[in-house]
Amino acid sequence: MKILILTGAGVSAESGLGTFRDKGGVWTRYDLSEVATPEGFARDPQKVIDFYNMRRANARGAQPNAAHLALARLQSEYTRGEVTLVTQNVDSLHEAAGSDALHMHGAHGVARCAACDARWPAPLVMSLNDQCPDCGRPETRPDVVWFGEVPHHLPRIAGHLRTADLFVAIGTSGTVYPAAGFVAEARARGARTVEINLEPSQVAGQFDEVILGPATETVPAWVARVLRER
Ligand code: APR
Repeated sequence: MKILILTGAGVSAESGLGTFRDKGGVWTRYDLSEVATPEGFARDPQKVIDFYNMRRANARGAQPNAAHLALARLQSEYTRGEVTLVTQNVDSLHEAAGSDALHMHGAHGVARCAACDARWPAPLVMSLNDQCPDCGRPETRPDVVWFGEVPHHLPRIAGHLRTADLFVAIGTSGTVYPAAGFVAEARARGARTVEINLEPSQVAGQFDEVILGPATETVPAWVARVLRER
């Protein structure tokens, strides 16, 4: 059986990492157009780098929670390649739990050269003056996908959406595309679809099943059920 899992900020909420659109969320405190768009970076790159460094500092020390660990167990119980985990998150808690994850919105720990597209492990605190190790130009930027940019790994994700028997969205509000459209694509290909969330997402009505509750309770229970029914 091919399982495709999509996670969002809700899967890391109980690890202490704030979500974006819940009460008190990141986008209720910061203007995303200033800190998470190419236009914002062109206007005030230091503000964007400061936001990125603050988010990384906040995430430092966060530990994977029972949901991350349950998803890693699910991947390990299936043949390699049967359970694909795509995350919208830029934290590394899925990896810390032992999962392989495709980061469609990029990852905190990667720096990118805006001039030559080279990527390298991001320093603990990124600076605008960091020189690209490949071309030497000081055009460093976070390798996170800003609004209006094309997410990473879309061709691979499209392939998984075509072949998935089961599509599961966990901890995402279903407000940002293309991720919010994955459930429709999976359904169109005949996959069974499950949403696991604290509250119904904006696309909850498109899922065959909606499981509500905190991820550290609902995800381990769902993984146990999948393994039982296998
Ligand atoms: N357990 C399960 N779900 C939770 C929990 C929890 N403990 N806490 C919050 N949630 C759910 C919320 O109900 C909400 O539906 O997680 C979801 C978080 O939604 P958002 O804050 O919008 O985060 P996300 O869906 O990941 O945002 C998508 O938008 O800002 C961009 O690039 C950013 O990747 C992000 C994308």
